[in-house]
Amino acid sequence: MLLYKIYIFLRWVIRRYKPSDRAAVLTLFRNGITEHIRPAFFKAMCHPDNVALTAIISVTIYLLDGCTCSLALMSGLAWVGIVYYCCHETYAGYVEEKLHTDMRDIQASFLDNPDSCFWVAEGIVDGETGIFGMVAAVRKAHDGEEEEQERCGEIFRMIVSSSCRRSGLGTRLTRTAIEFCRERKYSRIVLRTSSIQTAAIGLYLRLGFKHTHTDTLSHRSDWHTWVTKITFPRMEMVL
Ligand SMILES: CC(C)(COP(=O)(O)OP(=O)(O)OC[C@H]1O[C@@H](n2cnc3c(N)ncnc32)[C@H](O)[C@@H]1OP(=O)(O)O)[C@@H](O)C(=O)NCCC(=O)NCCS
Repeated sequence: MLLYKIYIFLRWVIRRYKPSDRAAVLTLFRNGITEHIRPAFFKAMCHPDNVALTAIISVTIYLLDGCTCSLALMSGLAWVGIVYYCCHETYAGYVEEKLHTDMRDIQASFLDNPDSCFWVAEGIVDGETGIFGMVAAVRKAHDGEEEEQERCGEIFRMIVSSSCRRSGLGTRLTRTAIEFCRERKYSRIVLRTSSIQTAAIGLYLRLGFKHTHTDTLSHRSDWHTWVTKITFPRMEMVL
């Protein structure tokens, strides 16, 4: 076990982001977020609301259309398509939004400010050197007066390439970000994930984060949230 831990430690170099990492980081970011579309869709389609709605739409059209199957089937499929679209928008829309905001200039957004940082994990997989993980930490913007006095950190952009998971890299990246927040004297770290990201929730709980509350607010409308059934757990670690 100890030898394995040493191997994992030596396998990856965790360092600050450099502009030459940009293409690899953006690919990792896009893939790491949009991979949740499919599980979100399957989960949403298993929800009783969506099962019932698909059935009601199909049966209603079947009866209204003189008991022909084709239009009934198409209407049911149309609802399934809407569910997929909403799941797609939740994650792909998030990626697009971030590519036009903080991820547009990673250096300026995270590294030019001493209160934040962006790390990548570099290593060799199948003989190829590349970037296989990333994470960012920032000083959280104040939510209200109460937090005015408090220095609070936030972790996000945590992604490990699918080819390297379950080998401790996510843990190392998170610990790097936690250590940074400690050095910056943040009193606590907060983060937000989605109910579909069960691996991330498992990782954070294992590292000592506590679930504080869950909200349904996404960058999309309430209607999207109702269709997709995706919720957004918030977690916190007191330092
Ligand atoms: C979440 C993520 C970063 C974890 O990376 P990782 O390198 O696989 O994590 P680790 O190997 O350090 O795993 C540490 C612990 O996390 C938990 N965990 C990791 N993957 C898990 C999974 N698929 N299911 C349940 N728990 C999981 C386990 O407790 C694990 O410990 P164990 O392997 O001893 O059981 C990775 O799965 C990922 O990039 N997911 C997609 C992007 C994402 O959702 N990012 C989170 C943004 S908030």
